Amino acid sequence: MAWLNCEVVVSGAAGGIGRAITLAMVARGGRVHALDRDADGLVRLVAEGQGQVVPYAVDLGDTPQVDAVLTRLLAILPGRCDVLVNNAGISHVVPFAETSDTQLDQLWRINVLAAMRITRALLPPLRVGASPAIVNIASELALVGQPGYVAYSASKGAVLAWSRALAIELATDRIRVNTVCPGPIDTPMLDAEFVIADNPAAARAGEIATVPLGRLGRPTDIAAMVAFLAGPDANFITGATFAVDGGKTAR
Ligand SMILES: NC(=O)c1ccc[n+]([C@@H]2O[C@H](COP(=O)([O-])OP(=O)(O)OC[C@H]3O[C@@H](n4cnc5c(N)ncnc54)[C@H](O)[C@@H]3O)[C@@H](O)[C@H]2O)c1
Repeated sequence: MAWLNCEVVVSGAAGGIGRAITLAMVARGGRVHALDRDADGLVRLVAEGQGQVVPYAVDLGDTPQVDAVLTRLLAILPGRCDVLVNNAGISHVVPFAETSDTQLDQLWRINVLAAMRITRALLPPLRVGASPAIVNIASELALVGQPGYVAYSASKGAVLAWSRALAIELATDRIRVNTVCPGPIDTPMLDAEFVIADNPAAARAGEIATVPLGRLGRPTDIAAMVAFLAGPDANFITGATFAVDGGKTAR
């Protein structure tokens, strides 16, 4: 399904899942405004993006930088935004008792507050989008608990809750808001979590064993769901949460 002339904003666009989302949107005829702190990753993404990726290097944990990038983004958008995907996120794997204030603060600022600030700023151009949609990326860990992820779970639970509330508030504007909860997806984030384990290969195998479908997810598995939710075939879906996790949270 092509959505010609669609203006799309994706945060964390240079990462594993964000890159797949960006390329899926480009494949559907979208122009993607790609936000990430990884400037080199943005350069690579632009090279892959068929001339349809506009890069914005920004640390979303830094409020003045977020404000500056939003000013630039609003100046470049043609008064209209059709799709916003709040995907940027970080994780810290640490027992709750040892979680530092800095880690709590980073998780909250990057995973929750940055997405809310971006969304708030883009509401005026979203309101004039043809069939506007917001897709927020939470996590399986918004739905279930796992040792070492208490603060991360809290941030992703907040994503789920604010998304659902926003869907109700924006329904009269016809802006749809949905949440995707990925299971373990084979990306640099997950790999970094295996690398710090005593036995990374065993950690990877152990994670795969938790997934009924017997494999890690691919970034394209998430991108396919995001593209569906952002597109016209999902035009009666809002305020909903979708686990894309190989059945992990259904156990
Ligand atoms: N990979 C998984 O198993 C998994 C599972 C559940 C949820 N998620 C969520 O999916 C999203 C994408 O994760 P991923 O696996 O692709 O991770 P990733 O680390 O591969 O990509 C994340 C991207 O976000 C960017 N980013 C992080 N902090 C930023 C900041 N302060 N400012 C700007 N950009 C920043 C990174 O540079 C990176 O490009 C995250 O929200 C993550 O929590 C991932």
